[in-house]
Amino acid sequence: MNINGKLALVTGSSKRIGRAIAVELARRGARVAIHHRSRETEADAVETLNLVREAGGTGELFQAELTDMGQLEELFEGLNRTFGGLHILVNNASVFAPAVADQTTEAVWDEQMNSNAKAPFFVAQRAARLMQEGKIVSLADVAGEVIWPGYLAYSVSKAALLAVNRGLAKTYAPHIQVNAIAPGPVLFPEYYSEEQKKRAIERTLLKREGNPEDIVSAVIFLIENDYITGELIHVDGGRHLV
Ligand SMILES: NC(=O)c1ccc[n+]([C@@H]2O[C@H](COP(=O)([O-])OP(=O)(O)OC[C@H]3O[C@@H](n4cnc5c(N)ncnc54)[C@H](OP(=O)(O)O)[C@@H]3O)[C@@H](O)[C@H]2O)c1
Repeated sequence: MNINGKLALVTGSSKRIGRAIAVELARRGARVAIHHRSRETEADAVETLNLVREAGGTGELFQAELTDMGQLEELFEGLNRTFGGLHILVNNASVFAPAVADQTTEAVWDEQMNSNAKAPFFVAQRAARLMQEGKIVSLADVAGEVIWPGYLAYSVSKAALLAVNRGLAKTYAPHIQVNAIAPGPVLFPEYYSEEQKKRAIERTLLKREGNPEDIVSAVIFLIENDYITGELIHVDGGRHLV
């Protein structure tokens, strides 16, 4: 798919990796729906929009709590009104909460599963209804394959997302290709200590953290390539082998 002139939605693109993806899609000529969760993150989303414009692109802001089906519905009504269709979805929004099994409350479980598995599924379902032909790329995690006990509910939610990825690839073939990327340590959570960062880097083969551009280039590759579907690409410095 040639990205130029296409309509794209990037969930959770008010900052960090989602922002970098939105800006690059816009730089390549896509009109980008910049999604953020709440009023509190509106200023960040506006900053993404400014960067999209600085890159010579066009974009629109959309706000929705994606675990709320009513808000998700409104997001797609708004998107359809504004764009009248869609070609590219990047399921980027996610929450990352540490909790071992014994400390995993129902609230933690529900937040992880709803934000990281249920929401991407229903976003993809609604997005597919707007696509004649299209690309869906979801941001997963190697935690969904190896299952980290310190982030148990998160890992299970990303495992479910990987299953969603394969299931939707089968469902929407041949007109929509559905793929996933598993980033390694790219942008650490703000609360990470130096020790936690060091340990995460130590667990990669390449012994360094990646940067958002490493993820962006994999997203662009999966959108531009028309013969890959149901795939998972690790962009993790070899973390999945350690
Ligand atoms: N960063 C890494 O090193 C790394 C490593 C492995 C995998 N990944 C994956 O790569 C993706 C991007 O990572 P990141 O670290 O840039 O993500 P992030 O900052 O943790 O989250 C991205 C955005 O998701 C949005 N979000 C979360 N739950 C939502 C909900 N229920 N409804 C609406 N929006 C919601 C938040 O939007 P608001 O800000 O508007 O609240 C947040 O800014 C994620 O899927 C992540 O799991 C990242």
